[in-house]
Amino acid sequence: MKRSTDTEILSDPSFSRAVIDWQRAHGRHALPWQNTRDAYRIWLSEIMLQQTQVTAVLGYYARFLERFPTVHDLAAAPAEDVMAHWSGLGYYTRARNLHACAKRVVADYGGVFPSDPALLADLPGIGRSTAAAIAAFSAGARAAILDGNVKRVFARVFGIDAYPGIKPVEDALWRRADALLPEGDGIEAYTQGLMDLGATLCTRGKPDCDRCPLRDRCVAFATNRTSVLPVPKPKKATPERRALMLAVVDNGQVLLQQRPDSGIWGGLLSLPEYDGHVALDEADDVSPTTLAGAAGEFGTVAEVEPLLPLVHGFTHYRLHIQPYRMGVSARGETPPGHVWWDLATITDAPLPAPIKKLLGQLAAPSLFN
Ligand code: ADE
Repeated sequence: MKRSTDTEILSDPSFSRAVIDWQRAHGRHALPWQNTRDAYRIWLSEIMLQQTQVTAVLGYYARFLERFPTVHDLAAAPAEDVMAHWSGLGYYTRARNLHACAKRVVADYGGVFPSDPALLADLPGIGRSTAAAIAAFSAGARAAILDGNVKRVFARVFGIDAYPGIKPVEDALWRRADALLPEGDGIEAYTQGLMDLGATLCTRGKPDCDRCPLRDRCVAFATNRTSVLPVPKPKKATPERRALMLAVVDNGQVLLQQRPDSGIWGGLLSLPEYDGHVALDEADDVSPTTLAGAAGEFGTVAEVEPLLPLVHGFTHYRLHIQPYRMGVSARGETPPGHVWWDLATITDAPLPAPIKKLLGQLAAPSLFN
């Protein structure tokens, strides 16, 4: 008995027909890297267009080709010259890979780009999707693309309910992309059509479904989910950290410590911390005696009193601060990097905002009690 393959299950010639017809009537036809079979020009455009919009690329593309008209010119150029012509486009690994790729094409292929997507994908900076686009546009090769825009189109049309960046979902999308390739002519219009759909109609923010050739087969449109598909990348939970801070006070002054120049609050003053950060669930176990011991280097600790805790959000974590007021009676020598500051002028101190707020509790206790 004949076993059905993925390609048979997922294939649907009317899909590529709809994309090709739409591209021929409504797609983009006059971009500078179109209407050519020159693999060098096509390759350069595809690399520049990775993570970068067409409008941003146009000027760079023209200047780059003027300076490096062939892959031989690029391969022979000094790296600084290549970087200078990329400067401003961003993602500079692309430029380094571009240069390395030009050298490989000259050394291994005599300056002629291969047309086999597998050979292209073996060159620096060319992934599977870029290899397929170059092979399709320069040689009419029947190879599937799956860049970010195409993932969005597929996620909506097929109602993919999982984040398309993870391996199993991406693998399934590649199987669909392979199965949906047109059988006969038209790989160029099909490939460009998928790109054009993603860039002009099936956009992230406000898709223009009324003009979309795939509307009638689009699961997201039918179920009113274009605004929730594709499923966004799951956010990592913000890590939580805890710090015990010591507000060592004596005679109307508080002891402040200079923060290291690098790291959070670099260069500002802050409160000394008990043994750096402590795990969230251990924090409550630190006894007043232990804390008093930790503050012993600043003087003789006469009293330990917890102050109101506060939470401060940084970009990469949330810091739970448990401050303790520690009254010292016999002030020791001020340790290096520390300074005693009058509580009356604490608002003038170069402190991070949450620490300044916290010290307000000490400076004007009546406001907080
Ligand atoms: N983005 C990636 N490749 C593209 C192409 N060939 N035309 C327009 N936008 C693109």
